[in-house]
Amino acid sequence: MTIAAVDHFLQQAAPRFEGELLDLLRIPSVSAESRYAGDVRRAAEFVRTQLAALGFAAELVETPGHPIVYAESPAVPGAPTVLVYGHYDVQPADPLDLWKTPPFDPSIRDGMVYARGATDDKGQMFTHIKSAEAWVRAAGRVPVNLKYVIEGEEEVGSNHLELFLAEWKSRLAADVAVISDTSQFGPGRPAVTHGLRGIIACEVTVHGPRQDLHSGIFGGSIANPANGLARLIASLHDDAGLIQIPGFYNGIPPLTAAERQRLRDLGFDEGAYLAEIAVSAPHGESGYTTLERRWVRPTCDVNGLTSGYQGEGPKTIIPSWARAKITCRLVPGQDPEHLVRSLEAYLRRGLLPGLRLEFQSWHGCPGYVFDTDNHFMQAACRAITTAFEVPPVFIREGGTIPVVESFRRILGLDTLLLGWGQNTDNLHGPNEHFTLQDFHRGIRASAHLWHELSRLPV
Ligand code: BES
Ligand code: MN
Ligand code: MN
Repeated sequence: MTIAAVDHFLQQAAPRFEGELLDLLRIPSVSAESRYAGDVRRAAEFVRTQLAALGFAAELVETPGHPIVYAESPAVPGAPTVLVYGHYDVQPADPLDLWKTPPFDPSIRDGMVYARGATDDKGQMFTHIKSAEAWVRAAGRVPVNLKYVIEGEEEVGSNHLELFLAEWKSRLAADVAVISDTSQFGPGRPAVTHGLRGIIACEVTVHGPRQDLHSGIFGGSIANPANGLARLIASLHDDAGLIQIPGFYNGIPPLTAAERQRLRDLGFDEGAYLAEIAVSAPHGESGYTTLERRWVRPTCDVNGLTSGYQGEGPKTIIPSWARAKITCRLVPGQDPEHLVRSLEAYLRRGLLPGLRLEFQSWHGCPGYVFDTDNHFMQAACRAITTAFEVPPVFIREGGTIPVVESFRRILGLDTLLLGWGQNTDNLHGPNEHFTLQDFHRGIRASAHLWHELSRLPV
């Protein structure tokens, strides 16, 4: 049996696969910071080399930003074609002093690899390369047609990906897409994700006097930009947690009783959830459960807030400016472009006299939800059940992967979102990690997915 040979290969190759993952994690491919541009390219080159070593046609596709790695396995006529997406870029590692070991000097402790990108998304993405390697070495070839799009700008909004998808549309033709960049529902509770939230991301700067002023001499006579910005931020929600941006909830279909029941049936442990993040009480839109607020309701959050004196001791000034980074998580039905304009207009209307508002929109994409009742989903469930020894649950997630909606709109493709990591792996935070057991189970689930998909009628 070929799949048995693949399983056997995976066992003996496990230590080498770990070593190669550490090599990839050593490259500080932070897409947001321009000083890492050379390292970002090195990570792309690393991924390309990995795929080329399998005999796949692999190249770097240049964009105005970071390159996209594209690769294709040798054609298997009559077999389905799978488009694998992942990202080799990572979030900034700050705050550095909170890391127990350096973010780009990976270390293994208690069966977990610690490094920036360990789970998001180098570790998870790598599983789909190593599963292909197992097929090539143990069986001579993968049993399906694999096309890889591994990008380097996911963490900054995938702004150059859509043009690539449109221009390469015919070469990217496939039957289904596969992404491992989400999470399991919990330890030992693998999941297939059938919905993601979208996003709008912007930055607001409120300008006041030409320079910082003595707050005793000038205070009381002019608007303070920090006070003015705080007022705008406070006006984003009412006391029931409802977002006040005009038209914000337009287009959202009501939550059905069936969907609510589906979420309740997951048996979400709110106490454990809050304990894990060291928060004493939940908070959010009234009338919804914590899981509903995280997955199927939209949000508006400040991600960064800066103004005035940040050093030690007091300083009596009216700051010259104040700035906030704001994101809204969107659910299906909400229109990102319309909402960015509505948010900007709402903030401008609430500005105190004498202040000037500068508004910058970074990126946006709509939320998405999939049908779970098709043979691709069933094949994924069988592969996961084999590798994790328990069937997956269907979940939605609150995070965003912009390409998922683009795949649907531009390529007409649905995506299997198969997360091997945990939401507690500290993605985007200090001490990000990935359990090696999840890494290996992910590789095995991926190898079995190629097997299951190869047996579907095309
Ligand atoms: N892998 C995450 C998204 C994610 C994580 C989804 C966990 C579900 C569960 C991805 O890399 C990410 O961080 N996306 C950004 C998107 C943004 C920069 C456009 C996000 O959600 O903040
Ligand atoms: Mn990711
Ligand atoms: Mn991320």
